[in-house]
Amino acid sequence: MTVTIVGAQLGDEGKGGVVDLFGDATDVVVRYQGGDNAGHTVVAGGEEYKLSLVPSGVVRGKTGVLGNGCVINPETLFEEVDALRERGLDPDVRLAKRAHVILPFHRELDGAEEAAKADSDSEIGTTGRGIGPTYEDKIGRRGVRVGDLLNEDALRDRLEYLVEAKRAIYEDVYGFDASETDGAFDIDAIHEQCLAYADRIRDEDLAVNAGDYLADRIADGDNVMLEGAQGTSLDIDHGNFPYVTSSNPTAGYAATGSGLGPTTVGQGEIVGIIKAYLSRVGSGPMPTELDGDQAEYIREEGGEYGTVTGRPRRVGWLDMPMLRHAARANGFTGIAINHLDVLAELDEVNVGHAYERDGERIHTLPATTEAWRDCDPVMKSFDGWSAFDPAVVADAGYSALPDNAQAYVEYVEAELDTPAYVLGVGPGREESIVRQNPFE
Ligand code: IMP
Repeated sequence: MTVTIVGAQLGDEGKGGVVDLFGDATDVVVRYQGGDNAGHTVVAGGEEYKLSLVPSGVVRGKTGVLGNGCVINPETLFEEVDALRERGLDPDVRLAKRAHVILPFHRELDGAEEAAKADSDSEIGTTGRGIGPTYEDKIGRRGVRVGDLLNEDALRDRLEYLVEAKRAIYEDVYGFDASETDGAFDIDAIHEQCLAYADRIRDEDLAVNAGDYLADRIADGDNVMLEGAQGTSLDIDHGNFPYVTSSNPTAGYAATGSGLGPTTVGQGEIVGIIKAYLSRVGSGPMPTELDGDQAEYIREEGGEYGTVTGRPRRVGWLDMPMLRHAARANGFTGIAINHLDVLAELDEVNVGHAYERDGERIHTLPATTEAWRDCDPVMKSFDGWSAFDPAVVADAGYSALPDNAQAYVEYVEAELDTPAYVLGVGPGREESIVRQNPFE
C-alpha cells in the first residue's frame, strides 16, 4: 500500500520526522516533487541528519526514489550520498529517468530573476537552488532529463539549444554577463560535467523507470511512502501565487510525480503534517504572523531557522482557514500535529479561527494573494499548558499530554474532521505519540 505525506502549511512542518517515524513499516520512500529546496532533519540513534534532496527514509536503510516530478541537482545528490557514506550508511537511491536535471545556469537565472524583482520589492524569497527555472524548462519542453544524461548525442543537442536560449535571457533580459559566472553558461563545460554525472549514474545503477519500478515493488507487497516536500500553501496551483514554489506538493501530484496511478495513491492513506503554529520562509501574506517577543520566543524554542538557507523563519499562530483549504485540496485521511512542546509554557495559545474581509467572515483561503492580504484573522484563544517531559508523554500516550494541549488537538481534529494519528512532542522520532500507524 501507499502512504502519502503532505505538508498542510508553508513547509517545515516536520514531514521528514513523520516519514521517519513510520520508516520501519516502509520499504520505499519516494519524493514526487521539488528538489534541493527542501530541507528535512531526521534524528536517528542520537545522530542528526540534514538532507535536502535524498529522501529521508534512506537513513533507515530504505530505498529512496526521486520520482519524475522532482528536479534533481546531481551535485547535491552526490554530495548527500557521499556524506551519508562517510557516516557509515549505505544509501540506496534511485532516480527517475523522467526527472529533470538542475544545471548550473538554472541557479544563476533564479538569482537573476530575484534580483530583478527586488527593484520593485516583489521577490519571492526563493531558496536560490534553481528550482523555478528548471521547472520552466520542463514545461517549456526544452529541459534535460536524467535519461538524457545517459545519451551523449541527445544530451549535446539539448544543451546546444537550451544553454544558448538561457544565456540570451540572462544577458539580454536581466543584463548580466554570462562570462562572469563560473562557467554556468559554457556548453562544453556543462556537457563534460553531465557526462561525468552519467558515468556515476551508470556505475551505481541509479536510473530507473520509476513508475514501473514502484508498481513492481507494490506488486511484490512492499509498502511505499510518498513524501511531499514544501507545503500546500506553497503549491503552484493551490498556494498563494506567486509566493509559491514551482511544483505541486499537494497529494494529487503524488500520482503524477511518481508514475503511480491516482487509484493506487487514493487507496492508501494521505496524512497531512501540521506544525502546531505557523512558520514561513520567504515573502507573502501571513495573516496570523507574530512579531516582537512572542515571535522571538517561538522562533528560539522551535529552532525556526531554514534548514537549507539558515534564514530566520517568520512565525505566527496556527491558521485554520489555511488548514481547512489543505484538508480539502489533499483529502487528508489523517493528520500529524508537530511541535506541541514548543508552545508549552505560554500563558495562552491563539489560533486564527477564521478571517474577516470586507465585513464578511470566511473559513477557508481566498483564491488570490491580494484578497488574502486583505484578510484580518478572527482569533480564538486557548489556555496554555505547562512544560512536560517528551519522553514520558510519548511513552505514556495521549492521556499523559496536558489537558489544555489535548483541548487544542481536539479543536484541530474537529475543525478538519480528521483524526490526529501522530502528535509530535519533541524533536526525536521517539518523542511522538502514535495513535494510529497509517500502514496498519
Ligand atoms: P523555491 O522553491 O526555491 O523556488 O522557493 C519558492 C518559495 O518556496 C520561497 O518562499 C521559499 O522560501 C519556499 N520554499 C521552498 N522550499 C521550501 C521548504 O522546504 N520549506 C519552506 N519553504 C520553502
